[in-house]
Amino acid sequence: MHQNLTVKKTDWKNYELIDTGDGQRLEKFGDYTVVRPYPEITWSKSQPQSVWDAADAVFIRTRGDKGRWETKKQLPKSWPMHWQDLTATVYPSPFKHTGVFPEQSAHWDWMRQLLIEQKNSNPEYQPHVLNLFAYTGMASVVCASTGAKVTHVDSSRASIGWAKQNQAASGLDSRSIRWILDDVIKFVSREVKRGVTYDGIIMDPPVYGHGITGEIWDFKSSFPELLHLCRQILVEDPLFVLINAYAVSISSEDLEERLQKLMKNHTGTISSGELSLEETESKRLLSTGIFARFENKV
Ligand SMILES: C[S@@+](CC[C@H](N)C(=O)[O-])C[C@H]1O[C@@H](n2cnc3c(N)ncnc32)[C@H](O)[C@@H]1O
Repeated sequence: MHQNLTVKKTDWKNYELIDTGDGQRLEKFGDYTVVRPYPEITWSKSQPQSVWDAADAVFIRTRGDKGRWETKKQLPKSWPMHWQDLTATVYPSPFKHTGVFPEQSAHWDWMRQLLIEQKNSNPEYQPHVLNLFAYTGMASVVCASTGAKVTHVDSSRASIGWAKQNQAASGLDSRSIRWILDDVIKFVSREVKRGVTYDGIIMDPPVYGHGITGEIWDFKSSFPELLHLCRQILVEDPLFVLINAYAVSISSEDLEERLQKLMKNHTGTISSGELSLEETESKRLLSTGIFARFENKV
């Protein structure tokens, strides 16, 4: 089933896509506005230049993928932004990322609702969620906030540290998430051997990545292997599976087909499409990535 998802200003307490154009995007993250380069934005800005010039920080690309932030005033090293009752830490990184992918809130809403409904229908049962390539962990925090048991896997020590900060800032107990610093394929292979199962799986596989001891993640060759492993760690009646992807060369239809194969023995609904952010004034949509997701409802 095709379904595009759009995140708007009203979905956040203090995030906003103010404008895009001429290879850049202008966004408000919490109390500060930032400009970041996005070469795929080929259209013109819709807001006057004065709105852009008022930004607190501008990311300047220097060489390759790296760059630096230029600020008009002294900005804190990191600061909070809020989604529902949870807090994400914004930290402008030397790779233009801020630690928060605001469009992901469309998925957070969905999984939170599924987990809450499950809890209401069977309060005795604690679902187990696996978050792979979990980065700064907001999806882990969202699931843990419903009382689910969460296993968070990432090969970057810095990202796990940051995710722990988001857990604390959101007022969750430090034991609410199991932190795993490991290569995704290695970890899931071990879970298969141990016979551990999960009610929900979230994954955000990059195009390229690496494990903690040099293991290579290459979406083209590693993704089919990961799906094969994931099939073996799902409970009989899984609650949800989410695959999100940025910059991969496959389509959302292709992603849906692969998810369909993974879920062929389970009853539920699969949808896929583009994930977008809506500009506040112009209502223009900025496509950010693709997804395919399964939920146990028919
Ligand atoms: C930034 S997130 C995913 C967001 C988005 N898909 C992207 O490409 O920007 C990618 C995360 O995957 C982690 N990662 C990459 N390769 C990995 C691997 N082999 N095992 C575990 N985590 C990995 C990185 O540390 C990072 O936190």
